[in-house]
Amino acid sequence: MVRTEFISTGMYVPERVVTNHELEGMMDTSDEWIRQRSGIEERRWAAEDEGGSDMAKVATERALEAAGMGVDEIDCIIVATLSPDHFFPGTGVFLQRKLGVKDVPCLDIRNQCTGFIYGLEIADAFIKTGQYRRILLVGTEVHSSGIILSTEGRDTAVLFGDGAAAAILGPTDDADRGVLAVRTHADGRHAEKLWAPAPACISKPFISAEMIEAGLTRPHMEGRDVFKHAVTKMPAALKEVLEVAGYSIDDLDMVVPHQANMRIAQGVAKGLGLPDDKMYINIQRYGNTTAASIPIALHECVAEGGIQRGDLVGFTAFGSGFTWGGALVRW
Ligand code: UT7
Repeated sequence: MVRTEFISTGMYVPERVVTNHELEGMMDTSDEWIRQRSGIEERRWAAEDEGGSDMAKVATERALEAAGMGVDEIDCIIVATLSPDHFFPGTGVFLQRKLGVKDVPCLDIRNQCTGFIYGLEIADAFIKTGQYRRILLVGTEVHSSGIILSTEGRDTAVLFGDGAAAAILGPTDDADRGVLAVRTHADGRHAEKLWAPAPACISKPFISAEMIEAGLTRPHMEGRDVFKHAVTKMPAALKEVLEVAGYSIDDLDMVVPHQANMRIAQGVAKGLGLPDDKMYINIQRYGNTTAASIPIALHECVAEGGIQRGDLVGFTAFGSGFTWGGALVRW
């Protein structure tokens, strides 16, 4: 039986570090509030002309180097982002052009914080059917151009950060390794609880000075409600993939969760009875990088030796949509 394995990973975050103290000078917030409520200490902001495709390119080149692979070996590109370089076409084709990969399909997916898990589910299906053999799966986000740096936008401005990470995925015949299970979910009844109302093709025109003036292009979030759902759906997603693959919580060596809030990750660990050192958290350094957060955390966890070959690794995410999901991988 063919399974999908992670051949390598790579990540890139912009050079500019923005501390909580720096944000204090832009809006009515405090380092103490941000740390206590979210665990975030600093985040990265992309340079003026740096887009998601630029960051994804560097992350991909690092992943390719780690795999000892050439760019021409990639036969499919999947990009997960909620902050595309342009309204259309998707970021995938800009990434393809910048990498110099010719004539491979570029699929853009819009599943926000669960984007990497949705992308993994698609890539896993493609690889298992033999459709593609070397899939580049990237999560990349530039939030710094969408947030509002004033007290009006502080509830989201302090949380989100920029960054990208890539995974190269391919088939393995080793039945004990690779992706063991992926499950994704959505509930559109909650779409407006975390969203950017504009630009909106449902309105004519789809963007106007009034819309910008009314703050419709910035993220809007009902934080407490999102929190409440996240702490139930994230552990449920993890339990689901464990059950599908025939494992239990005790079998897990590491969980790499979407990094939305340190309190959410700790709450998930506590609820599952998972020791703190089996829940990887790096939100302190990057904030919430949405579709990039799981692959960034995965890359760092592997680099720090937190995941070894043969380990059972769980992913879990929850976010805008609402969307959520989990994955189980034998590393
Ligand atoms: O990745 C996608 C999924 N996203 C999430 O999972 C995020 C889920 N939500 C959360 O993580 C938390 O709800 C937040 C970190 C966003 C907020 O924490 P909270 O403990 O739920 O705070 P709150 O929204 O209930 O706000 C508490 C107070 C409010 O003031 P009042 O109404 O009590 O006077 C806010 O106006 O904190 C105020 N506030 C701030 N104060 C200082 C909101 N943002 C800020 C800020 N600095 N940046």
